[in-house]
Amino acid sequence: MDLIPEPSPNVRQLLAFYLEAGVDCALMEEPVDRLAETDIPAAPAPVRETAPPRPVREMPAAMPTVPRSETAPAPEAAIALAREGARTAPTLEALRALLENFEGCALRNTATRLVFADGNPEARIMFVGEAPGRDEDIEGLPFVGRSGKLLDRMIAAIGLDRSKAYIANVIPWRPPGNRTPTPQETQICLPFIQRQIELVNPDVLVTLGNPSTQALLSTREGIMKTRGKWLDYDTGTRTIRALATFHPAYLLRSPSYKRLAWQDLRAIAKALEAAPSR
Ligand code: URA
Repeated sequence: MDLIPEPSPNVRQLLAFYLEAGVDCALMEEPVDRLAETDIPAAPAPVRETAPPRPVREMPAAMPTVPRSETAPAPEAAIALAREGARTAPTLEALRALLENFEGCALRNTATRLVFADGNPEARIMFVGEAPGRDEDIEGLPFVGRSGKLLDRMIAAIGLDRSKAYIANVIPWRPPGNRTPTPQETQICLPFIQRQIELVNPDVLVTLGNPSTQALLSTREGIMKTRGKWLDYDTGTRTIRALATFHPAYLLRSPSYKRLAWQDLRAIAKALEAAPSR
């Protein structure tokens, strides 16, 4: 029997295929045909016995001012710069400005913009997610897409809204195609969110989902074990009560866990009632 050849996909079908695969943003102005690249990368040059000394790049005291076109600092240097810069940021505005100029995380090169935070910096409750997605990258605000709508409903369930809560992410730039941030990217961004928590200084910190819980609450346990348990979060200047719950994106995929999330929200509401108002 003759095989009938598959018809070639049209542009709409190709785009749908890419979208499905998570490819929903262009990294460059011009397309690059990787299949047409025939050059085999040159083998590294043999190390000369008397290699000339490498130029030493001076470590800036505060934030790196390396132009975008230059290579980002090595991860260890980027983590050190992030720690030093974040530690010295006196206000949230200063912290945001530092991040706007921070060249140590390559995610900023593929993201459209920085997604710093939303809500009230004076709030008694702070929610921290993992990283912005497509909608957040477009709007420059955390949790504005589908999972953001559910987060709004979760916040409303305890009688609050974004004017009474503060919302941020561990990673402030969208990873391309919403891929999981690498451990290195998380380590580089961690000092900034830690300083953000210290500056907001909420009474209750809520980590949303596994990545933010593991990064901030120093646990390797999965969310099924950590959720709903009160932990201490030490800012360095104060101990804050912290509770992990499910990420709203997870609840959208697995609605049967909403019941447990609801228990967590009730515990959060109780803790807020019990904590003396500032
Ligand atoms: N998921 C997150 O973790 N953060 C956002 O801002 C949006 C989706």
